[in-house]
Amino acid sequence: PDLHPQVDSLLAKLETGLPNGQVPAGIFGNPHVYQHELRQVFGRCWVFLAHESEVAANGDYVVRKIGEDNFIVSRDERGALHVLFDACRHRGVQVCRADSGNTSHFRCPYHGWTYSTDGSLVGAPLWRNAFGGMDKAKNGLVPAAQVSTYLGLIFATLDPSAPPLQEYLGGMSWYLDLLFGLDADGLEVLGAPQRFVVDANWKSGADNFSGDDYHLGTLHRSVWEIGAFPVPFRENMMGYHIQAAPGHSLSFSMAPDENEPGPKFFGFPEGLAASFDTSRISEHQLSIARRSRVFVGNVFPNFSILALPMTEDGSHFPPTGIITIRTWQPKGPGQIEIWNWFLGYKRMTPEQKDRAYRAGLGTFSVGGAFEMDDTEPWITVGRTGRSVAAELLDFQLNYEMGMPGIGISTRVADWPGPGVAYWTRYEEGVQRNLYRYYTAMMRARAGEWPDVPLE
Ligand code: FES
Ligand code: FE
Repeated sequence: PDLHPQVDSLLAKLETGLPNGQVPAGIFGNPHVYQHELRQVFGRCWVFLAHESEVAANGDYVVRKIGEDNFIVSRDERGALHVLFDACRHRGVQVCRADSGNTSHFRCPYHGWTYSTDGSLVGAPLWRNAFGGMDKAKNGLVPAAQVSTYLGLIFATLDPSAPPLQEYLGGMSWYLDLLFGLDADGLEVLGAPQRFVVDANWKSGADNFSGDDYHLGTLHRSVWEIGAFPVPFRENMMGYHIQAAPGHSLSFSMAPDENEPGPKFFGFPEGLAASFDTSRISEHQLSIARRSRVFVGNVFPNFSILALPMTEDGSHFPPTGIITIRTWQPKGPGQIEIWNWFLGYKRMTPEQKDRAYRAGLGTFSVGGAFEMDDTEPWITVGRTGRSVAAELLDFQLNYEMGMPGIGISTRVADWPGPGVAYWTRYEEGVQRNLYRYYTAMMRARAGEWPDVPLE
């Protein structure tokens, strides 16, 4: 197809470099690459929009984004979910002017066309006189091409040819079950999502949450020093890196067996973990959840998940399990808006929810100890990516860790879950999986879905 020459050249470098662990820095800053991503990645893949608990009641809505475009996620009067392009059919004006709420109708501020929460046009001023009673059914808000949910997570895609969500998630759903299906009663959002803007490329967030555990001992060293995280660095590097499905990767820090001392079940209190109704998941899944200390992962392209024991203040409070989910919302090649939600299990007591929320706010939030560490280096990744020097010097980034013959990580032969697993987290195959799929999506022709191997 008609690729911009800079995009074509950077993708060609990725295609030849990635099998050798090399990634051209330009993909983190080039504006033509970014424009191509909006169509090929965000315009085609399943994108996370909201948790079902945010639109629990009929008439509830939130406004979210696919790529840079606004969509209304609404629950109509009969309880059905809709994802509607927030643009009036008359002149394209933004119809919904609040971030969230409960309503029976959306009324366009320009001329007053009025839509119901399922998107259908119900009226317009002087409809009969001005438009001769033209067919309203042809003038509703336009829905996303496909909408689907998995364990309370609402996704949509703009591509009618995208595989069903379950197929798109592939083996990743098995791992999502460990958190989102761990208790049959499910989860709910704690508080409103935080949003904050960082001058970084969206792939830096996705890359980090695919399993960049290597940075913990340097970038987050101070967090260990104040006792905010209860597992020593070396021990925390023991665990698995998993390419769950093409594009989707995750990483577990895990106790070697269930009798090992130290936190389990992502750090949730023992009494709470014992009360979970785990009937939804298998014995293998339960055993992994039981041993797990940290779960960090990314669903391609920009939906990340993190569960781990955290404390907002190591000197006063013991760590507790927290769950954050986030999107790396693109706002140009060099900017993201980070959306950050905290989740709790519905069966948690108000005190347990409050504690998990506070521990989350103190660590993974705009003012959190971890978040402030993480975002600063990403800003300079973007600066390198858009630099003239990177272009003229053909600057390549090293993603070799854990490749065959490199380092101490080894592929696990008898892993009980889907995908490809490596033992010890000194490994970057999880990120190479992200970029292999990314490259294939950037090249994919309309209507075609790439078949990308795990390695
Ligand atoms: Fe919405 Fe005219 S643009 S009613
Ligand atoms: Fe970090």
